[in-house]
Amino acid sequence: MARDGAVYACQSCGAVQTKWSGQCSGCGAWNTLVEEAQARPPGALAPARGAAKGRGLNFEGLEDETPAPPRISTGVDEFDRVCGGGVVPGSAILLGGDPGVGKSTLLMQVAAHAARKGAACAYISGEEAVEQVRGRAQRMGLADAPVKLAAETSLRTILDGLKRERFDLVVIDSIQTMWSDAHEAGPGSVTQVRAAAGELVRLAKKQGVAIILVGHVTKEGTIAGPRVIEHMVDAVLAFEGERGYPFRILRGAKNRFGATDEIGVFEMGDAGLSEVRNPSALFLNTSGERAAGAAVFAGIEGSRPVLVEFQALVAPSAYGTPRRAVVGWDSGRLAMVLAVLEARCGLGFGDRDVYLNVAGGLRISEPAADLAAAAALASSALDQALPQDCVVFGEISLSGEVRPVSRMDARLKEAAKLGFRRALAPGDADAAPPMTVTGVGRLADAIRRIGDGDWN
Ligand code: TYD
Ligand code: MG
Repeated sequence: MARDGAVYACQSCGAVQTKWSGQCSGCGAWNTLVEEAQARPPGALAPARGAAKGRGLNFEGLEDETPAPPRISTGVDEFDRVCGGGVVPGSAILLGGDPGVGKSTLLMQVAAHAARKGAACAYISGEEAVEQVRGRAQRMGLADAPVKLAAETSLRTILDGLKRERFDLVVIDSIQTMWSDAHEAGPGSVTQVRAAAGELVRLAKKQGVAIILVGHVTKEGTIAGPRVIEHMVDAVLAFEGERGYPFRILRGAKNRFGATDEIGVFEMGDAGLSEVRNPSALFLNTSGERAAGAAVFAGIEGSRPVLVEFQALVAPSAYGTPRRAVVGWDSGRLAMVLAVLEARCGLGFGDRDVYLNVAGGLRISEPAADLAAAAALASSALDQALPQDCVVFGEISLSGEVRPVSRMDARLKEAAKLGFRRALAPGDADAAPPMTVTGVGRLADAIRRIGDGDWN
């Protein structure tokens, strides 16, 4: 039974209910509702103390000028770019990522480089002892940077410390380890994470300090439990990487002070993360011949062109239900491309296993990759390799058309720069020599060309 004033918060999605139940009505998860001490339902106004009247609302016009926010350049250019050109004082950034992807490593480098440039930086770890954090910084050659370290999980102690000493940039690693004694719930619960994030964001705004919160990501890909804190912060960044590959991608998922389509590319090595300033050829398999089943996709990640190899294997299925496995691309999109290949191009996959892999550990989400995936699949199914110097891009519609995509010029230019001479692309694409475009209006035409080796 619900006690008076008690509310129940789902530890998975953050939904709040007034009655306890076994299943969350918000996300459908079981046994995730935990009682919160908070008496006020969310959204209700705090009872006004003293005056019952507001201050009066000042309206402003749209034409009024707003100065660009000042920025702290951290000295890690890839990080700055994803943030929109540096970190804005008084803003809160949430950095999410799988455990072990390199969040602590990245933020130690960010703090150390910013500190070397004169910013007052603090690194507060709730996960590791000071010795561990210091040891890692020393191994990365950052021992000389004037970063102030602390190992602490008590929110009260941290807020106190940050009120006493002024910083430009503070890293909190991680938000899930912080706890406030004002709440009974355990550390890592939605209540605690929300309270801690709320207090820290308020402090950031009040003192003009930029705060970076580390958030662990759950298996489902959301920042553990608290979706609720994604809306409290000014920017949400995701740090991604496939196990077994050294490359790490920093992506903006939300940014109140910049674009969200920017990516930063890093490589994890023995001395921490190094920046990859020109990633366009990073994900290409440059060794050896391009075999049947491979197609080079000329993609755009953020503002930059990136070439990446799609690898497909289509093989007879040993079991009743054929397997579909995909790494680095959307499985729904794969199903769609397979269906279009079957319905519009006469290729059959019903009794075959299909594997599709994006080389190098990059995750591609652009629709422009449809044609590259289809070309790789058809190339494997027909056992016909694409020309060695060919790149592919184009969106495929359900009717089997190949549609133009954004920034075709930039894709073609980058491909030409890297030694490619031919593009299998939508009919409207136009290239200057030495690049030749084999324009296709329909997927069936592209598949016929791959099958016949007809590139003129
Ligand atoms: P870490 O930053 O601790 O990850 P997170 O904070 O996201 O959990 O990074 C952990 C991994 O990075 C660990 O598997 C070891 C590797 N690593 C290197 O390869 N080189 C290095 O210089 C460092 C510091 C870590
Ligand atoms: Mg860590």
